Amino acid sequence: MSALLPTYQRHNIELVEGTGSFVKDTQGITYLDFMMGIAVCNTGHRHPYVEQRLKEQLGQLWHTSNLFESSKQERVATLLTENSHLSHAFFCNSGTEANEGAFKLIRKWTQKTEILSFSQSFHGRTFAMMGATGQEKVKEGFGEMVADFKHLVFNDLSSLDAITEKTGAVWLEIIQGEGGVIVADDAWLEALMKRTKAYGVKIVVDEVQTGIGRTGSRFAFEQTPLKPDIITVAKGLGSGFPVGAIITTAEAATIFTPGTHGSTFGGNPLAMTAAEATLDLLLTDELLHEVQEKGNYLMRRLAAELPETSLHSVRGRGLMIGIEFERPVAGIVQALQQVGMLVVSAGPHVVRLLPSLFVTREELDLALEKIKQVCQQEVMV
Ligand SMILES: Cc1ncc(COP(=O)(O)O)c(C=O)c1O
Repeated sequence: MSALLPTYQRHNIELVEGTGSFVKDTQGITYLDFMMGIAVCNTGHRHPYVEQRLKEQLGQLWHTSNLFESSKQERVATLLTENSHLSHAFFCNSGTEANEGAFKLIRKWTQKTEILSFSQSFHGRTFAMMGATGQEKVKEGFGEMVADFKHLVFNDLSSLDAITEKTGAVWLEIIQGEGGVIVADDAWLEALMKRTKAYGVKIVVDEVQTGIGRTGSRFAFEQTPLKPDIITVAKGLGSGFPVGAIITTAEAATIFTPGTHGSTFGGNPLAMTAAEATLDLLLTDELLHEVQEKGNYLMRRLAAELPETSLHSVRGRGLMIGIEFERPVAGIVQALQQVGMLVVSAGPHVVRLLPSLFVTREELDLALEKIKQVCQQEVMV
């Protein structure tokens, strides 16, 4: 019997080693990893530069407290905000925690309790973030949610009429990850931006999954007409080391003043070393451009070469890709494991591909071969 609370339905595989795009299990079986801990290891497994920097930091200092100055936090905050309208960061330990902090910030900043989020969205598992999330299955059995959040239809122009002077914030993902890799339309975002501006409503963009180069720009919002007041990040920020952040404008510095928010571990020297090394590697124009090119290449070939009989659509941006099938994909995810490839689903019909941002063309081609092989088997069944 397991000593763990059964909150996860686990695959019968234990991974014990990882290098670049590959992981190995306890049986010595190697897998091409196209889920990367669900969009976490954006630099691949154990990138030598991140590993070296962490080793150095392990020999210096592991933890102090946010009661002391931190030039490392300053440096990471600068990397996350330079050349943008955003200028301030708060460090925490996960995506949910970043969102929970953003929720507090919005409450105090706007003094309003109505926040609009969207159907199929996912924002985390704390009590408030269950409320923000637009998926019933996440809330089942937990009773009344925090009343602040109302859910609108994603990508629907008329739903934006709900934004009024009563609204404190609109809260969204640019590409809904857990919801099925659903990309927000630019025209819809344009209208959302206009309407929020007209009513003085704040915009919170949850970049927990889309951020840190995943979509081919530092953050996904940078490829859209949106100018958010707050973004939240986590997942890819630490290359596998737990770290999250709220990133916002200078005005928020008058709201989150001493004593209003905090975290014991948030921004500790190990987390900041992982984040700084990750950002040094990923935030180059060359790498971000390559992410776009590699993503376009993979999407183009998937759309052209997968058997049409079972395929609904291929979509995404950069290296955040969803393949929607007509039928449930649980069998495809398992069949891919059997041919040595790891992917994660996004809802019942979508296979999500989230490879390392350093994935090579050869690895993309290998992934294509494996996916094609499994889809052809599925068509035959
Ligand atoms: C968009 C988004 N927001 C928030 C979260 C929650 O992040 P975490 O699991 O780090 O708390 C996730 C996790 O999948 C996510 O995809």
